[in-house]
Amino acid sequence: MRYWGQGAALVTGGAGFLGSHLCERLVERGQRVVCLDNLATGRTENVRHLLDHPLFTLFLADVTEEWDIDEPVGSVFHLASAASPSDYLRLPVQTLEAGSLGTRNALRCARRHRARFVLISTSEVYGDPYEHPQRETYWGNVNPVGPRSVYDEAKRYAEALVMAHHREGVVDVGIARVFNSYGPRMRPDDGRMIPTFITQALAGRPITVTGDGHQTRSICYVDDTVDGMLALEGSSEPGPVNIGSQEEVSVLNLAHFIRDFSGSRSRIVFVERPEDDPHYRRPDITKALRTLGWKPSTRLEEGIRRTIAHFMERHTSLAPQAEGTPGDPLEKGDTDAGKRTAQGLGRGGHA
Ligand SMILES: NC(=O)c1ccc[n+]([C@@H]2O[C@H](COP(=O)([O-])OP(=O)(O)OC[C@H]3O[C@@H](n4cnc5c(N)ncnc54)[C@H](O)[C@@H]3O)[C@@H](O)[C@H]2O)c1
Repeated sequence: MRYWGQGAALVTGGAGFLGSHLCERLVERGQRVVCLDNLATGRTENVRHLLDHPLFTLFLADVTEEWDIDEPVGSVFHLASAASPSDYLRLPVQTLEAGSLGTRNALRCARRHRARFVLISTSEVYGDPYEHPQRETYWGNVNPVGPRSVYDEAKRYAEALVMAHHREGVVDVGIARVFNSYGPRMRPDDGRMIPTFITQALAGRPITVTGDGHQTRSICYVDDTVDGMLALEGSSEPGPVNIGSQEEVSVLNLAHFIRDFSGSRSRIVFVERPEDDPHYRRPDITKALRTLGWKPSTRLEEGIRRTIAHFMERHTSLAPQAEGTPGDPLEKGDTDAGKRTAQGLGRGGHA
């Protein structure tokens, strides 16, 4: 059933943070890549260095609408979806549609081309978990009508749809449950913890920690996350498989860490915690190790160092301020309709 290497890799959401790194890696390994994106939360800038590459095509399309790829496709990676809370709360219906209609359309493409289909799902399917660390067998604790449900439930539906195709034996599938990832090309304004802390630290502004900061996250450097996606694609494992770091760190410690690493004197301040924000996050990656031989290898220090360097380079206005704000670092409360094809847009993109 596998057609690996015999067709293009389609990456939906390929102009986003994770997708652009995935496209880059696929091109590096000599794979033809079609990057489908509507730039809802992604940027052409993320793939600009690939636009003139003969193996790369940027296909501007909405994954939820009708589209097709007029060349053989060997694998489909479905990433198209808003992913940061500030983005999906701003785009609630589009997010649900990317998970539902978008997943249906991407599966349809995989089925037509007899391609392997990799769903990039999320640790958010575990919600605010009662099991810690989270194993793939845990069903999760998700509020189906809360504000975050537009993302969590879209991904849960997407997983169900993918498994239904698997059980019917019509598409060769793999589900990756990706945990918090970070690295170069995150948007400084995307509202996620790492770019927010780095941006604030470099600008000498207060670093805003939500709640008391004792909630934990396990953050995985983007290169490792992409390795995990590629390992899943190269296997016949249907998943779901957790892809994430086991290095669990409190949000407050992370804020301190980033402040120290960026040489900033920003104060750390506490702001209200968002509704349904998970208390704990750490994957059990036994299954990824056993079935894919995958585990992350980038140390937190190294990943953060590279990410800060990228932000300083790309966003020179964020270079450390000579005048940081001294003071108590833990001061509390300071507070196109119609059918489109990739060929129609051609190589190189038009954004
Ligand atoms: N970054 C993380 O920590 C993380 C963790 C778990 C899962 N994921 C998953 O990885 C994927 C990518 O996340 P990211 O962090 O790169 O986010 P991102 O916002 O940077 O990338 C998402 C991309 O999808 C595109 N997109 C959104 N809706 C679309 C649509 N209808 N049609 C076509 N393109 C569309 C956006 O323009 C963007 O380029 C998402 O599916 C997300 O759920 C990310």
